[in-house]
Amino acid sequence: MRTLIFATNNENKVAEVRSVLDDSFTVISLKEAGIDIDIPEPHDTLEENAREKSTVIHGLTGKNCFSEDTGLEVFALNGEPGVKSARYAGNLAGSAENISKLLTNMQGIEERAARFRTVISLILDDHEYQFEGICEGRITEEASGKEGFGYDRVFIPTGADKPFAEMDMAGKNIYSHRKKAMAKFIQFLKEYDGENQD
Ligand code: IMP
Repeated sequence: MRTLIFATNNENKVAEVRSVLDDSFTVISLKEAGIDIDIPEPHDTLEENAREKSTVIHGLTGKNCFSEDTGLEVFALNGEPGVKSARYAGNLAGSAENISKLLTNMQGIEERAARFRTVISLILDDHEYQFEGICEGRITEEASGKEGFGYDRVFIPTGADKPFAEMDMAGKNIYSHRKKAMAKFIQFLKEYDGENQD
């Protein structure tokens, strides 16, 4: 079975990706690959940051790998925090600070539409391919729930009545941006392997 390095240090992302895998490939995290590196996200788009991460790991290992970059885009904030989602409240900020800043900036705003957007960058046989997944929803008035990570405590996907952080993994996967991007990725690999079989 094909093995791909997932260029992330975020164990939550590794768990979510593994939860949607079928038998098309297995995933090795950076930690499992013995790589200890903080990969920069210096660009203004998710696409470029995702490419940066996969390119750095491909450069280090020469192996097939993939990465992803995700942003929370809030309509009333002109798409912010977007590509800056991880550092919204500052370079050292964690999720609690980021959520707090978001809720403060949304105070008194009735239009709460938002979306998560994930871009996966795959480097396979020295070529890069990208896959996008979008989850529409809205920002809550206050944080709730204990599951998930990041902004999950303040985001209710369209069609649900509770935030991601009140769902288990299977529940989040019904709506998730990451799951949608992964579905395209998995489909692509199946077709790629079909076409490249002797
Ligand atoms: P990055 O893709 O690791 O740069 O993540 C950007 C920011 O969005 C970080 O603050 C993450 O915690 C957050 N984030 C990424 N994916 C999700 C998600 O699925 N749910 C909630 N927050 C997320």
